[in-house]
Amino acid sequence: MRFRFLPNLVSFLPAILAQTTVSSNKDADCRCLYGQSCWPSEQDFSSLSTLLSQPLIRPVPPASACYPVGNPSGNCSDVQQNWVNGNWRADQPGAYQNVNFETYTNRNGSISGCYLNTTLGLPCDQGSIPPIGVDVRTIEDVQAAVRFVGQHNLRLVVKNTGHDYLGRSAARNAFMIWTHHLKNISYNANFIPDGGLDNETVPALTLGAGGGLQWREAYAAVAEQERFILGGISTDMSVGAAGGWIMGGGHSGFSAKYGLGVDNAIQFTIVKADGDHVVANAHHNPDLFWALRGGGAGSWGVVTSVTYRTYDLVPLTMSFINATFSDPQVAQEVTTEFIGLHPKLSDAGWGGYSFFNNQTIFAAFLAPNVSWADTNATILPFFDFVKNATGQPDTPIFTQPFDNFHAWLDALQSQGSAGGMEQVGGFGELASRLISREAAEERPEETAQLLLSFEFVSINFVAGGAVARADPDSVGLHPGWRKAVAHVWTSEGWEAGDSGDVVRQARQRVAREVRRLEPISPDSATYMNEASLYEPDFRKSFFGSHYEKLRSIKRKHDPRSLFLVAEGVGSEDWNGSLTCPV
Ligand SMILES: Cc1cc2nc3c(=O)[nH]c(=O)nc-3n(C[C@H](O)[C@H](O)[C@H](O)COP(=O)(O)OP(=O)(O)OC[C@H]3O[C@@H](n4cnc5c(N)ncnc54)[C@H](O)[C@@H]3O)c2cc1C
Ligand SMILES: *[C@@H]1O[C@H](CO)[C@@H](O)[C@H](O)[C@H]1NC(C)=O
Ligand SMILES: *[C@@H]1O[C@H](CO)[C@@H](O)[C@H](O)[C@H]1NC(C)=O
Ligand SMILES: *[C@@H]1O[C@H](CO)[C@@H](O)[C@H](O)[C@H]1NC(C)=O
Ligand SMILES: *[C@@H]1O[C@H](CO)[C@@H](O)[C@H](O)[C@H]1NC(C)=O
Ligand SMILES: *[C@@H]1O[C@H](CO)[C@@H](O)[C@H](O)[C@H]1NC(C)=O
Ligand SMILES: *[C@@H]1O[C@H](CO)[C@@H](O)[C@H](O)[C@H]1NC(C)=O
Ligand SMILES: *[C@@H]1O[C@H](CO)[C@@H](O)[C@H](O)[C@H]1NC(C)=O
Ligand SMILES: *[C@@H]1O[C@H](CO)[C@@H](O)[C@H](O)[C@H]1NC(C)=O
Ligand SMILES: *[C@@H]1O[C@H](CO)[C@@H](O)[C@H](O)[C@H]1NC(C)=O
Ligand SMILES: *[C@@H]1O[C@H](CO)[C@@H](O)[C@H](O)[C@H]1NC(C)=O
Ligand SMILES: *[C@@H]1O[C@H](CO)[C@@H](O)[C@H](O)[C@H]1NC(C)=O
Repeated sequence: MRFRFLPNLVSFLPAILAQTTVSSNKDADCRCLYGQSCWPSEQDFSSLSTLLSQPLIRPVPPASACYPVGNPSGNCSDVQQNWVNGNWRADQPGAYQNVNFETYTNRNGSISGCYLNTTLGLPCDQGSIPPIGVDVRTIEDVQAAVRFVGQHNLRLVVKNTGHDYLGRSAARNAFMIWTHHLKNISYNANFIPDGGLDNETVPALTLGAGGGLQWREAYAAVAEQERFILGGISTDMSVGAAGGWIMGGGHSGFSAKYGLGVDNAIQFTIVKADGDHVVANAHHNPDLFWALRGGGAGSWGVVTSVTYRTYDLVPLTMSFINATFSDPQVAQEVTTEFIGLHPKLSDAGWGGYSFFNNQTIFAAFLAPNVSWADTNATILPFFDFVKNATGQPDTPIFTQPFDNFHAWLDALQSQGSAGGMEQVGGFGELASRLISREAAEERPEETAQLLLSFEFVSINFVAGGAVARADPDSVGLHPGWRKAVAHVWTSEGWEAGDSGDVVRQARQRVAREVRRLEPISPDSATYMNEASLYEPDFRKSFFGSHYEKLRSIKRKHDPRSLFLVAEGVGSEDWNGSLTCPV
């Protein structure tokens, strides 16, 4: 295989040699960081300002309002009240959903950050929050910002809502493009992709790429049109609808019925590294269109809009069970049965969410367009099995029909949040793998045993069905997704002010533990948006056999790698801070 690339290599040899000479003067190739002499002057920034619709922003850590201690510089009680509020966090350029991404690990292993708990006695540090950036509101703003970054060779961060579990929307001393206010939203019952024929109409919703357009707002927009859209599901529906979610794949409990986000996106608009604003769809820049659907966020340019297919509303039913196990043998029996159920359920378009260990299981299922009676016929035998196995006939179970997605969403939101779980405002990282259909179908017992050996795992039942039926090569996403039936993750958390050693050990555990899931995963594949920063081989786990093609698309559209994120396409050519080539 390798020799096939030889002609290319030979023709590039002079260029490679030239590069080698340059890189002996390493700093010349490095990205410019805040605090270095190459950093743009105040005058440079004020000329940039003249091109922008908004003043430059100077992001600060959210807890900075509580410092200096004793005489707070801002409204500290507001910060305390909203610390775990995902939307409040998304509204601030300097706040991230997981606080650890606001912090920075120093070379000596110590951690600098700005903690809400001021009695820890630690100074408030900027951490990994970029000190300056652009609050983009127009395409021209984005173009000016991208050109400025290119011209000054800055380390760039694109930030939307700050949900990223790998901290890819933060970087110390970088320059930020904040997409939060790209809020356009429009529904078109007869959308024709740019360059398409008149008979190619799709009822579609076009969303600006802003964190302002979080899923809850997209849902409200399609509710008005009495339509369904496939999107992210979380307690406050605060994930960005047109940023990291879609470029990483975009899953939902409704995916077995409607596919992943990438299977529903029909057009993107994007500002590329050269500042050009282009359309990427089936007719224009099809290579970029392919890459934007699962090739990972932050690697291609600044996406300014995404257009999604929408669907007729259908009724749905929800069911759940919350059981406890008195002994691990029962946990094994129930979990085996539970895992074995996934392939069948996904074939019928079911999805959902669950978490379990050898003491407890909680599972919530969604069955779009499945009647209440059919839902009962499918799931009650399993619930009875659990009640019997645990010897607890009073185990809480429930099945309930809803008129449609929006009625379900209203009910969910009127409960405050799903299960009252706080999903943000803490310190933690994830590790995960996709579960192959084959493991669930043919080896449910072994799969259950492996999953139960973790302190805690959670299953996003977001694959199989329509996800498995799509052509694996139709989009850039890891083809392993098409062999999967679900996505399983585990996590590690720690506390504000914990030492660098504690955090390092937690990270090492995450990285080590995830490898144990190999026997049940299709080709080591995982979901890059809910994964570890310390993957043994991110190319294999995040992109699989699509990596080389993605790499060549990246070379074509972003030859200088202005757009770099940890474990993103092309990041292997840069050092750990993505500031210097290796
Ligand atoms: C509470 C919570 C719930 C979640 N629920 C789901 C879920 O239901 N389904 C699911 O699939 N995932 C879910 N996720 C994971 C989610 O998909 C990722 O965190 C994703 O990265 C969020 O993207 P964002 O744009 O909102 O966040 P950000 O952190 O702002 O950005 C994420 C990445 O995308 C890049 N990026 C953002 N906007 C742009 C843009 N316009 N152009 C170019 N690059 C951009 C950033 O540079 C960064 O690399 C959840 C995460 C959290 C914290
Ligand atoms: C500070 O924030 C709290 C909580 O959001 C609010 O009630 C209060 O009015 C704010 N105070 C000032 C001075 O803005
Ligand atoms: C580690 O480095 C940080 C940042 O440079 C510094 O503030 C801190 O004092 C150092 N800690 C030790 C133990 O050397
Ligand atoms: C804040 O830190 C102090 C000192 O470590 C600790 O005793 C206290 O419990 C912490 N408070 C909270 C709310 O975590
Ligand atoms: C938002 O929509 C308006 C009206 O369609 C358009 O003029 C404007 O360029 C759009 N803005 C962005 C950032 O796409
Ligand atoms: C649209 O029309 C073209 C040419 O008239 C035809 O080839 C194509 O199959 C049509 N597509 C659809 C989806 O009807
Ligand atoms: C929903 O179910 C009805 C009746 O079974 C069927 O006619 C219809 O095509 C289904 N719709 C979808 C979107 O699956
Ligand atoms: C479904 O099962 C629930 C719980 O056992 C029951 O209350 C409900 O009546 C059943 N619905 C139908 C349509 O059978
Ligand atoms: C109920 O559990 C017992 C053992 O506890 C088992 O023998 C029996 O077959 C189970 N019945 C059902 C319906 O699963
Ligand atoms: C499940 O039940 C336990 C009590 O057995 C309860 O504490 C917990 O909150 C329940 N979980 C959910 C998600 O409903
Ligand atoms: C229960 O789970 C823990 C992991 O939290 C594991 O160490 C232990 O071995 C499990 N117990 C049994 C009997 O499987
Ligand atoms: C990347 O290289 C630069 C220049 O040698 C260095 O200052 C920086 O610390 C490196 N980053 C990491 C994470 O090694």
